[in-house]
Amino acid sequence: MDERCIGIVGAGIMGSGVAQVAAQAGYQVILTDMSATQLEKAVAGIAAGLASRVQRARMTEAERAAALERIQTGSALSDLADLPLIVEAVYEDFDVKAGVFRTLDQLVSPETVLASNTSTLPVTELAAVTSRPQRVVGMHFFNPVPAMRLVEVIRGLATDDHAVALVTRVAEDLGKTPVVIKDSPGFVSSRLLAPMINEAAFALMEGIASREDIDTILKLGANHPMGPLELADLIGLDICLHQMETLYQSFGDPKYRPCPLLRQLVAAGYLGRKTGRGFYEYAQ
Ligand SMILES: NC(=O)c1ccc[n+]([C@@H]2O[C@H](COP(=O)([O-])OP(=O)(O)OC[C@H]3O[C@@H](n4cnc5c(N)ncnc54)[C@H](O)[C@@H]3O)[C@@H](O)[C@H]2O)c1
Repeated sequence: MDERCIGIVGAGIMGSGVAQVAAQAGYQVILTDMSATQLEKAVAGIAAGLASRVQRARMTEAERAAALERIQTGSALSDLADLPLIVEAVYEDFDVKAGVFRTLDQLVSPETVLASNTSTLPVTELAAVTSRPQRVVGMHFFNPVPAMRLVEVIRGLATDDHAVALVTRVAEDLGKTPVVIKDSPGFVSSRLLAPMINEAAFALMEGIASREDIDTILKLGANHPMGPLELADLIGLDICLHQMETLYQSFGDPKYRPCPLLRQLVAAGYLGRKTGRGFYEYAQ
């Protein structure tokens, strides 16, 4: 197994971001997706991301070309057979992810560590669909991957020290700060961020303050770079709602009930920046 080689399943926003930072850090990357169009889009996006680093004098032209060379694409999961680490970044849907994990489990070496970039799904349950639960771990990158410094490393109930040590080391190689936590609904990031956004939606719904004032209060009063409502629009209100529903169902605690205003905006299709309207309106 080549230690500095990483496989990625899913070449969307997150998978292509991980591919870029891994190639930048000198890793050989095999980036796979079920969609050939998506793979082309991902490579174009990575090329643009690397070119912008050259423009900002963060990397030389030769380094850019070498990084791009290190990325190989394909659609077959069997291409990932002998790698030490595979990062899964497919849709946030348990059945889709479980399907990928079952297939990988059969195709790849029993030594391979399977890491999921899930933001909410239980790592322990994903691990349980494989015959190697000790080799399954959460590796939660943040969006945009090249800019965000954190990797939340999630230890499932059966995850062993080898898997945790491997993803921790790779995260550090990629210039990130790994933080290891236990598997729990919403991990730490979504468990804290989603209720803050939800509470901001309640404050807006109750007419306590305007959307701008709610955001200003947290920006100036708590030094947050973005207000919670602006942040919700960036993340996507559907994703915020889904996170609250997951917390509510998992803990059965009413403190996690989603705000009716959040539900209403999602039902109207006002999902944030991606649809041109959320808590704020955006020129398309
Ligand atoms: N977007 C974010 O802000 C963000 C942040 C942190 C974590 N995440 C998590 O990262 C994961 C990926 O999110 P994303 O935003 O990159 O999604 P995305 O929709 O941009 O990309 C998902 C990709 O997976 C591919 N795919 C789906 N099923 C597949 C399969 N069976 N085999 C191979 N490829 C398959 C799709 O073709 C698509 O290209 C999710 O679990 C998400 O929760 C997302």
